[in-house]
Amino acid sequence: MKKKLLPMSMVLVGLVLGLSACGNKAATTGQDTPAPQENVAEAQETEAQETETVQEEEKTTAEAAESEEPEQAAQESTEQESAAADSDTTAAAAAEETGAPGSDALAVYFSRVGNTDFPEGIDADSSASIRIDDKGMMGNTGQIAAWIAEEAGCETMEILTEDAYPADYNETVNQAKQEQNDGFRPLLKADEKAVEDYDTIYLVFPNWWGDLPMPVYSFLDAHDLTGKTVNVFVTHEGSRFSNTVGTIAELEPGAEVREGLSVTGGSVTDEEQNIRQWVIDNQK
Ligand SMILES: Cc1cc2nc3c(=O)[nH]c(=O)nc-3n(C[C@H](O)[C@H](O)[C@H](O)COP(=O)(O)O)c2cc1C
Repeated sequence: MKKKLLPMSMVLVGLVLGLSACGNKAATTGQDTPAPQENVAEAQETEAQETETVQEEEKTTAEAAESEEPEQAAQESTEQESAAADSDTTAAAAAEETGAPGSDALAVYFSRVGNTDFPEGIDADSSASIRIDDKGMMGNTGQIAAWIAEEAGCETMEILTEDAYPADYNETVNQAKQEQNDGFRPLLKADEKAVEDYDTIYLVFPNWWGDLPMPVYSFLDAHDLTGKTVNVFVTHEGSRFSNTVGTIAELEPGAEVREGLSVTGGSVTDEEQNIRQWVIDNQK
């Protein structure tokens, strides 16, 4: 029906992705990160130069991937691994008992971390955005979803691909670009929840190449969210929402799609209270 990708050149995305591989550098400096709309416009203007630009993107990405900064970003956030598994179960049980607001909600998230087979013994210094503690490994997106679920008194569900992404960050970046170029829809594992049973979906994902990760397209393809409220939360390293909210609204025309918060990966920890407050302020 609806599933139409916005054609978009990846000029800016390449630039931003260079920033993304540099952890939260863009957010920290606050410079040279054009607003999403400007990015799209610029990308469209330069469509004719795409081949040349892609080469430039790849160069930028490769250079950025060699940088130490993603590891710094990961290091900064190491201590922030969430108690998601515990918290969503507990919160959901409490919501069921009390009929608390949010018990008809579900926090659905996609993260590179849960969709990657990392080698044994990997630590948070080895790959950007991984959070590890005694409870396990989690990405920026999973952390945000866990806080949302706690505050909303609901459960979480992770979007999981059948095939894992490469453990190497740069390989994943390149694969994701290829998937986007091809309009590829990765095969997903079966949902752990009956998504259609919930009235409110908190949809949380990382900005990938200025867009939804392709597995999130797969998820939206698989579900008709008509009549539901979809609250969109994005984690990123400079691109913020890009046009993801508009894209989801196009793909799910029967849903009320609301802009939640965009959170810089390296600043997730600092945003916990804002995220929780948004959920409190916007529960229906
Ligand atoms: C394949 C890929 C593409 C990315 N593209 C962008 C991008 O275009 N803009 C941006 O700001 N960040 C980009 N990032 C950075 C992620 O959005 C950011 O690190 C996010 O916090 C990761 O969340 P996660 O740990 O839950 O996977 C990209 C990361 C990956 C792996």
